[in-house]
Amino acid sequence: MEFDLSEEQEMVRRLVRDFAEREIAPVIRDHDRAGCFPWEIIRKMSPLGLLGAPVPQEYGGMGVDFITYAIIIEQLGHADTSLRTTVSVHSSLAELAILYYGNEEQRRRYLPRLASGEIIGGFSITEPNVGSDAAGMQTIAAQDGDTWVLNGNKLWVTNGALGGLAIVFAQTDRSQGVKGISAFIVEAVLPGFTATEIRGKMGLRSSSTAEFVFEDCRVPQENLLGQIGDGFKIAMACLDNGRLGIAAGCVGLAQACIDASVKYARERKQFGRPIGSFQLVQDKVAEMVIETEAARFLVYRAAYLKNKGERNTREASIAKLYASEAAKRAADRAIQIHGSYGYSDEYPVERHYRDVRADTIYEGTSEIQKLIVGRHTLGIDAFA
Ligand code: CAA
Repeated sequence: MEFDLSEEQEMVRRLVRDFAEREIAPVIRDHDRAGCFPWEIIRKMSPLGLLGAPVPQEYGGMGVDFITYAIIIEQLGHADTSLRTTVSVHSSLAELAILYYGNEEQRRRYLPRLASGEIIGGFSITEPNVGSDAAGMQTIAAQDGDTWVLNGNKLWVTNGALGGLAIVFAQTDRSQGVKGISAFIVEAVLPGFTATEIRGKMGLRSSSTAEFVFEDCRVPQENLLGQIGDGFKIAMACLDNGRLGIAAGCVGLAQACIDASVKYARERKQFGRPIGSFQLVQDKVAEMVIETEAARFLVYRAAYLKNKGERNTREASIAKLYASEAAKRAADRAIQIHGSYGYSDEYPVERHYRDVRADTIYEGTSEIQKLIVGRHTLGIDAFA
C-alpha cells in the first residue's frame, strides 16, 4: 500500500492551490455577496485543463486518474465550494456520463467543448415532487418520429442556467418502472426548454442552480444517451462519480476550516495568551484534523477502486457521507473558534458554514447514503 502522492499528483495539487490563491481567493467574497457566476475564473481555468480533468486527451481533456481528479477537486473545495460544485458536477456528472454512456459521435461532439469550458454541463434528475425517490420522476419523453418530446419540470439543477447542456432523465415507458427511464443530452438552445436561475439560496451563491421547464421540447433522437430504458442505471452510476467529487470537495472545505482556525487561534489573544494555547480550542482543532484526514483516505479509497475499474457505489457513499458530515462539523467548530468574527464574511469560515450545508443534501442526502451502505452490507437490492 502506497500513501505518498506521485510527483505528478503533487505537482497538480500545487498548481491548483497556487491558482486558487492567486485567482479565486481575492475575488470570491465579492462573487458570493453579489451572487454572480465567476465566468472570468472559469475562462482562466480552461488553459490549465481543470474543466476536463478526467476526460481523456483524445477528447480534449487532461485524462488524469481519479486520485488526481480528487486532489484537484479537494483544492477547489479548499478555495470555494460554489466553484467546486460547478466543476465537480460539470466533470463527474456531465462529462463522465457522456464519456461512459455516449456513443462515439456524442463524445466527439460534446466532450471537447465541455473539457475546454466553452460550455458547462449539468445533470437533471430531481423534480418539484421527486427528490430521494429518483425513480418516481414524472417528466415524460414521448417518441415522435426521429425526436423525443419532453414535458415536465426539473429542479435544483447545478449549472442549469449557464446556457450549456444538461443530462436530463425522463420517463419513456411508465409501465416499466425504473427500466422505463431514459437519459438525454439536452442543449439549452432547444425550443420548448426554459431554465430559470433559483435565487435566495443559503449558500453556493456564486454557483448556478436552476429550475427547468419542458413544454413540448423536441430532443433529437441522436441525443438519447445510452439505450432506451437505461436512464436510471446511468443516473445511479453517474452519482457514484458525483458523490466521490462531493466527498473530495468536502475534504478541501474541512481543510480550509482547519487552516483558517489555526491562523486565527495563533493570532487572536484572550486572557493575555493566543487562544490556541487553550485546551478547549486545541480539542476542536484536533477533532477537525482527525476527521478530515479520515475523510481524505475514504476519498482516496473510492478513487482507487474507480482507477481499477471496479464499482465503488458503497465506498463513494461512505466517503460522501463521512466527508460531508465531517466538513459540516469542521465549519461549525471553525465558526466557534473565530467567535463573533466567524459570524461575518470578513472571514471565509462564514461562507464555508453556509456552503457546506448543501453537501449533506445534494446528490443524495446523508440518509440516502446510509441506506445505500446498509443495503450493500445486508445484500438487499431494493425496498422490500
Ligand atoms: N450503479 C449501477 N446500477 C445501479 C446503481 C449504481 N450505483 N444503483 C442502483 N443501480 C441499479 C440496480 O442494480 C437496479 O437494477 P436492476 O433492477 O437491474 O437490479 C436499479 O438500478 C434500481 O436500483 P434500486 O432498486 O436500488 O432503486 P431504488 O428506486 O430503490 O433507489 C436509491 C435507490 C439509492 C434510493 C436512489 O433512488 C437514490 O440514489 N436516490 C437519491 C437520488 C439523488 O441522489 N438525487 C440527487 C440528484 S442530483 C442533484 O442533487 C442536483 C445536481 O445538480 C447535482
